[in-house]
Amino acid sequence: MNHFLDIHKTDAVELHQIINSAQQMKDARAGRTRGALDDDLPLKDRVVALIFEKPSTRTRISFDVGVRQMGGTTMVLSGTDMQLGHGETIADTARVMSRYVDLIMIRTFDESVLMEMAEYADVPVINGLTDRTHPCQIMADVMTFEEHRGPIKGKKVVWSGDGNNVCSSFLHAAAQFQFDLTFTGPAQLDPEDEFVGLARKAGSKVVIERDAVKALTGADLVVTDTWVSMHDSQSSKERRHNMLRPYQINEELMSHAKPDALFMHCLPAHREEEATSAVMDGPNSVIFDEAENRLHAQKAIMRWCLGV
Ligand code: CP
Ligand code: NVA
Repeated sequence: MNHFLDIHKTDAVELHQIINSAQQMKDARAGRTRGALDDDLPLKDRVVALIFEKPSTRTRISFDVGVRQMGGTTMVLSGTDMQLGHGETIADTARVMSRYVDLIMIRTFDESVLMEMAEYADVPVINGLTDRTHPCQIMADVMTFEEHRGPIKGKKVVWSGDGNNVCSSFLHAAAQFQFDLTFTGPAQLDPEDEFVGLARKAGSKVVIERDAVKALTGADLVVTDTWVSMHDSQSSKERRHNMLRPYQINEELMSHAKPDALFMHCLPAHREEEATSAVMDGPNSVIFDEAENRLHAQKAIMRWCLGV
């Protein structure tokens, strides 16, 4: 049994195997309807609990559909509907749920909730996003890059904007998949020092560059995310927008990347804020492939967690 808590906590060889398995499962489903079962049904007779303490479109639907395609069943739970929201400890919740379900995916605020769930659950726990990281997203992103451009190893990835939870998981992936990461954004929103250090220690070149044009020059992949995350207070919105405006990904800025550079955004996006529609819908954008690959990557993650 394996938990999938963060990319840097998972063995690099196994991460590559998960991506390969995701691509194989995707290829095997070509031409099928979304609801059609896979040929093999590794989750037959298994129940997966999906807990959401924050909103979600992609994570909720892709996990649910993925489990069904592999022959399992799901229950989607909101934290507030459970006793979790009324003071029952995470540890007790984890022990109880382990008597009912085969796997738990949780999207929560504080990372400590995820870690406590993993510590006390007897079944695998998957991180479906915390305030600090979003590993399933970056597995889909690496898969998407490699599907379009081959190995990501040695490539220049540029993160523009807020050094947030998604950026953190990109730094973890830089360490494990051995690519270089340039962060461009305001100093107040720099990525966590600990994660920058972790990527550097693993041999990735991590550059912090305030000048967005310099940062994007020669990029193989340009990534951005919302300027106000779910865990950020709405009162910080105007201040964040003012700081982040120079880092909007528009056609002019994108023209400094390599001509075949890919553009990614985990979505949901605020069009004309962090990125323009011209870029999001332009020839370099793979945002909807990324969204689709959440499904395939997470199916492979669940199989790895359960060893099936
Ligand atoms: N990218 C992502 O995790 O989207 P949702 O918040 O819709 O799940
Ligand atoms: N950084 C965003 C990602 C959403 C998928 C957030 O945490 O709200």
